[in-house]
Amino acid sequence: MDHKLKLACLASGGGTNLQAIIDNIESGRLEARIVAVISNVSGAGALTRAQKHGLPWFVVNNKEYTSRQLFDRELADIIDRQEAQLICLCGFMRVLSPFFTDHYPGRIINIHPALLPAYGGKGFYGHKVHEAVLASGEKVSGCTVHFVDQEVDHGPIILQRTVPVLPEDTADTLADRVLKEEHLAYSQAISMIARGELEIGTNKNTPLKMRL
Ligand code: GAR
Repeated sequence: MDHKLKLACLASGGGTNLQAIIDNIESGRLEARIVAVISNVSGAGALTRAQKHGLPWFVVNNKEYTSRQLFDRELADIIDRQEAQLICLCGFMRVLSPFFTDHYPGRIINIHPALLPAYGGKGFYGHKVHEAVLASGEKVSGCTVHFVDQEVDHGPIILQRTVPVLPEDTADTLADRVLKEEHLAYSQAISMIARGELEIGTNKNTPLKMRL
C-alpha cells in the first residue's frame, strides 16, 4: 500500500516548479506522488515534462468553457478521479472559483514570486511582480508558499524564502534568482504537509490548523 501524499499539479507555463517537485520525488528527497498534471494550455511546457516522466497529464482548455465554475468542475472531476489529496498550483494562471476553493478547504497550495502580502493579488503574476518590486526600490524579495482560499494570493502562509534585490537587476535577473528559491520552497512546503506538520482539511467540517 502506497501511503505517499498524492499530488495534483496545475500549471499553465514552462513548469520549472513542477520539474523541481518531480526531481525531488525521483531522488527520494520528497515523499509524495504526482497523480495528475493538469494544464489549461495545450502546448504548456509543464505537459511535456509530465509526459517525459510518465505522469498522468490532462488538458482542460478554459476557452472551451462558458463559465469559470464549469471549467473548475472539470478540473475537480479529474482531481477527484485521480484521488489527489493536495493540489499544487505551479504557475497556474487562472483564478479559481469559490466552488473550487470551497471544495478543497486547506488542500490547495500556491507558490507566488514575492513576499506576500506584498505584491500579491489580481494583476500580480509572473514578471509583473518583479517589475513592481524593482519599481518600488525594494532591497529584498523572495517567494511565498501559501494555502489558497477564495481571495487571490491571500490564504495562510506556509513558508517564505528571501533573495536580495541587486542594483543592476532587471525583471529577468530578479525572476531567475527568485525562481531558484521557489524550486526549494515548494518541495519544502509539500514535505511539511506530507509529514503531517500542517493539517490538511479533508472536508468542510474538518477544523484546519494551518499555522506553523
Ligand atoms: C513562477 O515564478 C510562479 O511563482 C509564478 O509563475 C511562475 C511559473 O514558473 N506564479 C504566479 O505568478 C502566480 N501568481 P514555472 O512555470 O517555471 O513553474
